[in-house]
Amino acid sequence: MTVQLRVYVPPHPLIKHWLAVARDAATPSVLFRSAITELGRWLTYEAAREWLPTIETTVQSPLDACPATFINPEVPVAVVPILRAGLGLLEGAQTLLPLASIYHLGLVRDEETLEAQCYLNKLPEKFDPQTRVLITDPMLATGGSIMRAMAELTQRGVNPALTRIVSVVAAPPALQKLSAVYPELIIYTATIDETVNDRGFIVPGLGDAGDRIFGT
Ligand code: PRP
Repeated sequence: MTVQLRVYVPPHPLIKHWLAVARDAATPSVLFRSAITELGRWLTYEAAREWLPTIETTVQSPLDACPATFINPEVPVAVVPILRAGLGLLEGAQTLLPLASIYHLGLVRDEETLEAQCYLNKLPEKFDPQTRVLITDPMLATGGSIMRAMAELTQRGVNPALTRIVSVVAAPPALQKLSAVYPELIIYTATIDETVNDRGFIVPGLGDAGDRIFGT
């Protein structure tokens, strides 16, 4: 697979651990939810590198003045969870990005055609072009859903170069589609799995993330 965009699979024991818990079919819903929350936290931590805008200043410590770096509060940060399953990653992301605005986007795949249908769109009409956008969706399978989400965002002024996707399992069809249109995009995922079966499920994957998070 040759893709132009950057896909990071952080080699971190906590990410590996919570991925293993999430993959295990014997994991009950309550623990699955915790695993996805933890993955949301650690993958967002990784994604925030060279993405969160900072400002350089000085502070006065009890002993002396010293250079200091703060998160720049003037630059808008937005998190876009793709419902339903992306909500599972939101809590962990929000603990690290407490000032971010959350814009929900509800997408569901037609079980026959696998095409993503939009049933809820809480995006603003226009984003400030400086906005840092973090999209959360645990599964990037055929890529229909994430391509739809990117189209909705970019047509509202979002810059793909300032956008990060946090996912848990990403598959080649989705990565190839994203790369062809948004080569400047950067993705953080716990793993890349090679296969998407004819029902649109990633193999081995972790099953239906939305159903497992919400116990449906
Ligand atoms: C799943 C998953 C992704 C999408 C990935 O959502 O959470 O959003 O499918 O598939 P794709 O790359 O082939 O589009 P689903 O439609 O099952 O809805 P849910 O999150 O409400 O369960």
